[in-house]
Amino acid sequence: MRLIVRKAKGLGGRIEVPGDKSISHRALLLGAIAEGATRIQNVLPAADCLATLACVRALGVEVERLSETELVVQGRGLRGLMESKDVLDCAGSGTTMRLLAGILAGQSFYSVLTGNEQLRRRPMGRIAEPLRRMGATVLGRDDGRLPPLTILGGNLQGIEYRLPVASAQVKSAILLAGLYADGPTVIHEPGPARDHTERILAAMGANIQYPISNITGISLRGGTELLPLDILVPGDISSAAYFIAGACLVPGPEVAVVGVGVNPTRTGFLDALREMGANILVENQHEVSGEPVADIVVRAGDLRGIEVRGDWVPRMIDEFPILAVVATQAQGTTVVSEAAELRVKETDRIANVAVELRKLGASIEERPDGFVVEGPARLVGAQVNSHGDHRLAMSLVIAGLVAEGETTIEGTECIADSFPGFEEILRALIN
Ligand code: S3P
Repeated sequence: MRLIVRKAKGLGGRIEVPGDKSISHRALLLGAIAEGATRIQNVLPAADCLATLACVRALGVEVERLSETELVVQGRGLRGLMESKDVLDCAGSGTTMRLLAGILAGQSFYSVLTGNEQLRRRPMGRIAEPLRRMGATVLGRDDGRLPPLTILGGNLQGIEYRLPVASAQVKSAILLAGLYADGPTVIHEPGPARDHTERILAAMGANIQYPISNITGISLRGGTELLPLDILVPGDISSAAYFIAGACLVPGPEVAVVGVGVNPTRTGFLDALREMGANILVENQHEVSGEPVADIVVRAGDLRGIEVRGDWVPRMIDEFPILAVVATQAQGTTVVSEAAELRVKETDRIANVAVELRKLGASIEERPDGFVVEGPARLVGAQVNSHGDHRLAMSLVIAGLVAEGETTIEGTECIADSFPGFEEILRALIN
């Protein structure tokens, strides 16, 4: 599939975005091992979360789908999952594979996790290694580092583990395995990765403490059954980011994205835009299902380059492709460093963002751990490619709103991995 985008004269309106992807995965997975029925509203009906849904069902969990975005998961308790009759297909979803591996490490049956070609290239040693230390057998290609993964679990011991990278997926895999372990599981994080797993676990009554000793430590004791919940999933700030960026770049009136999750471990992109000088208001802040939620109101204005590194990186880890687009229109230099993780996302987001934005006339230089953008650049429409990466595809669409003439984005079917309805919402905003 391809999308053809023309330079936009104006962007404005009030919109909602679909439910948060990370929270949807967690609600499904934790609902599956809670004791009783968990109702999930505004669950994200995107390919990644549907993969989690299919895996959970394959493990014997009944899930009633009341509508496209509302589910009831009949949780079977910590020990109630059943061996799947087939391999578990995680499609392109790293979150599905890594979090599910944590749960399966606690099961005394045999599981095989696989996925599409893109996912089968992504590093799994980062979860296999701590899960093995806890006592699970985890096998894979390339000496156990690549999917498909075979997991034979059970009889786990809690560990104290220092994460080599700030990764919510790795942290969550260890915490989920920790639910089945004897003794405490303690995790030290090098930076503030998203904490949705911790929040849902606490709400379900797990014996979890965080933060411990510093701002990024977690301690969990397993063995207690989880209580089912009613979860209303907030709008996904990573999806909202494309329209927020568009509103910063294309003149008014204004864009309001309502009901968006503003968990502080996810709002690094808003901080980046503010630092660049953008007009952003966060209004009507309230709490929904243990997560902060707000309306985000944005107007276009002059922007300047910034430097992003350190603890800022995990707080906006999925927003670097769209940050690069915004940076092309900012005055001066934007430098992203200490972000080598971008190379092991759905695709190598450093290399691919640089290659594609250059086709539109951007000045962007690749670095081993980030990129440097010189702005402002006059972007001119061209043919660009998503490389099968949903976040790159949507970022290129927003770049197309700014570029002179017409931009053709090839390979836009991957947008459905995280954001069904992206195109319709964008159309509604273009005046
Ligand atoms: C996610 C965590 C992040 C993020 C991904 C979703 C999650 O990955 O990039 O899109 O739901 O836990 P890492 O934890 O590997 O950084």
